[in-house]
Amino acid sequence: MALPRSEYLSSTWRDGIFDNKVVFCTGGGGTICSAQVRALVHLGANACILGRNVEKTEKMAQSIATARKGAKVIGIGGADVRSIESLEKAVERCVRELGGIDYVIAGAAGNFLSPIAGLSANAFKTVMDIDTLGSYNTLKATIPYLIESVKKNPNTGTNTSTGGRILFISAAFHYTGMPLQTHAAAAKAGVDAIMAGTALEYGPYGITSNVITPGPIAGTEGMARLGDPKSEATGAAQRKNPLGRYGTVKEIADGTVYLFADTGSYVNGEVLVIDGGGWRSTGAFDGEKTYPDYLLDGTFTKKAKL
Ligand code: HXC
Repeated sequence: MALPRSEYLSSTWRDGIFDNKVVFCTGGGGTICSAQVRALVHLGANACILGRNVEKTEKMAQSIATARKGAKVIGIGGADVRSIESLEKAVERCVRELGGIDYVIAGAAGNFLSPIAGLSANAFKTVMDIDTLGSYNTLKATIPYLIESVKKNPNTGTNTSTGGRILFISAAFHYTGMPLQTHAAAAKAGVDAIMAGTALEYGPYGITSNVITPGPIAGTEGMARLGDPKSEATGAAQRKNPLGRYGTVKEIADGTVYLFADTGSYVNGEVLVIDGGGWRSTGAFDGEKTYPDYLLDGTFTKKAKL
């Protein structure tokens, strides 16, 4: 007797797999998170994206809504993840207008290049507050709704409508350390730790908690601020990557769909690094000028506000 397809193959990447689901995403006005949300909306979800900039966030919501006829995408500008009150207000609006929250992407981040000696205590704290405290606040404000989502959508193992997923966005530079990024590395190490604790505490509720760690992704604001994509230094960074190139937002969106669809139902407490293997090549270099050399020689810092 033929086995039904659902017994051996996930239905991922098929229109409608996220029908009636709602994704709540901080940092949704940015290039990476908006691509993640756009993919989920294309496959059926409705969404609520948050950002500090009102115009940018609302425009991005309108743009994401074009991914699917009838999609509802709310853009909440003026939201700051450093404030739990700001998040609770946004969550309340999302639930009121879209009916609940099934998936969370804690993507808001703040960063700049600075040597350790160039940081004030407030500069260090600002990045910790946006990345680490902001991820915690996002978790705290949304977790009751993720618990509700799991009750509505029990995980049967092959059920495409599983809810209750939280995804944090991190960075690999805290595995090795990185010049001019010590503040951001400390903040992202905290994000990974929050993810791990969440996986253990909320796994028993049926909620999965994971991290996606994007490598350098072409076309993002973060990378644009690191320098001209055609520059010698950026070329060095690309050559050092085992795949010899930057990633694309689609590659991050694909990882997100994998984790949120039934394909990810048994993945909990994991870090999915999507960087072409770049972080592993930090020490490997063939004698020419290294990427850290470029970071230290001012190639990038002259572009940063120091
Ligand atoms: C040293 C700096 C600095 C710099 C700001 N500060 N820029 N210190 N070098 N280049 C200091 C300020 O002087 C101040 O300290 C403190 O940081 C807070 O600055 P504010 O401007 O008041 O903070 P705020 O308006 O909240 O802005 C937050 C921000 C900003 C992080 C500083 O850059 C921002 O909002 N960025 C947009 C979001 C963003 O960066 N997204 C990209 C994420 S990409 P004092 O002591 O003067 O008060 C990403 C991955 C990148 O994270 C991967 C890289 C490899």
